[in-house]
Amino acid sequence: MRTFKNKVALITGAASGMGKYLAINLAKEGADVVICDVNEDGLKETEKIIKSYNVGSSLLVLDVRNKKEIEELPSKIIENHGKIDLVFNNAGVVIPAGFLNMKEEDWDWCNDINYNSIINFSRSFLPHLMKDEETALINTSSIFGIITTPNNTVYHASKFAVRGFTESLIKEMEGSNTQIHCVYPGHIGTNIAVNAKFGNQISKGESKDGILGLNGEPIKDIKGERVSEEEAGVRFRDAGMDPDKAAKIILRGVKKNKKRIFVGIDSKLMELSQRLLPDSYWKIMSFTLFLGLLFSPHRLKKVINLAINKKS
Ligand SMILES: NC(=O)c1ccc[n+]([C@@H]2O[C@H](COP(=O)([O-])OP(=O)(O)OC[C@H]3O[C@@H](n4cnc5c(N)ncnc54)[C@H](O)[C@@H]3O)[C@@H](O)[C@H]2O)c1
Repeated sequence: MRTFKNKVALITGAASGMGKYLAINLAKEGADVVICDVNEDGLKETEKIIKSYNVGSSLLVLDVRNKKEIEELPSKIIENHGKIDLVFNNAGVVIPAGFLNMKEEDWDWCNDINYNSIINFSRSFLPHLMKDEETALINTSSIFGIITTPNNTVYHASKFAVRGFTESLIKEMEGSNTQIHCVYPGHIGTNIAVNAKFGNQISKGESKDGILGLNGEPIKDIKGERVSEEEAGVRFRDAGMDPDKAAKIILRGVKKNKKRIFVGIDSKLMELSQRLLPDSYWKIMSFTLFLGLLFSPHRLKKVINLAINKKS
């Protein structure tokens, strides 16, 4: 795809993080954007920025679990914008919790947002996308759709499912007008962990209280004190890649028709470590993440400053 100019793009989860910056960067490049999310205030913020680029836009307060609304969406967008060229299935949530402690309704909630919505959007929009030249369906999985960590079963299950579905669809759709992409972000500094529905986690370490890291051990600050859920969410946001940069990487991948779009050196390194060390990669995850930071001095500085509680 050479350009996004005069395209019409739908972005789910556009009130925050990568979805927000996908919408802004698409508008900057001259695309009409249809932004949807459950967070109306966040959507309005995104819309305000989009309006400054003089492109068409629509704001939809939409829960991606609502199958009926998704079925009606293509005709609504075509009525308002004339066509639909790009669909970014980006909305997502996370529940860091042990499987044995998780309520069934939480399991379904996460899968309905992260995975089932993508099936419903794909089913509703693909017939319309396939009618035109240069169209694309972009589904966001995660590096956690390739590697696994403890206390994250439902997130991994949903993201592995997105990957399996999308990578099979890529093969099925080869040669068609519609590009299919699967996105694998690493650690991106968004609100996803701030808004996480934390559940009871199963500790591999000395205590069952507080927040556990990717290796199943309690997260502690530099003074050896346990980190709260709220603090863990804020630290996650502040230490990750700038979501604007992440959105630009995704859009570059779509232009180049890269089927698998890895976002961040950490994502690429974790994928590699999974292939080289399938049984033990997660035990050296902290080292892999540290290695990733060495390639990104700006983020390394941010992480060090966060650890010693200084502003970067
Ligand atoms: N941040 C990361 O490190 C990271 C890493 C890998 C993958 N991802 C994936 O990237 C995608 C974007 O996440 P982000 O990091 O920008 O997070 P974010 O929390 O900043 O944005 C996610 C958006 O999805 C919206 N959303 C949640 N439930 C919804 C629903 N039912 N209907 C409509 N919208 C809903 C939220 O309101 C939010 O605006 C997600 O699919 C996430 O799983 C993120």
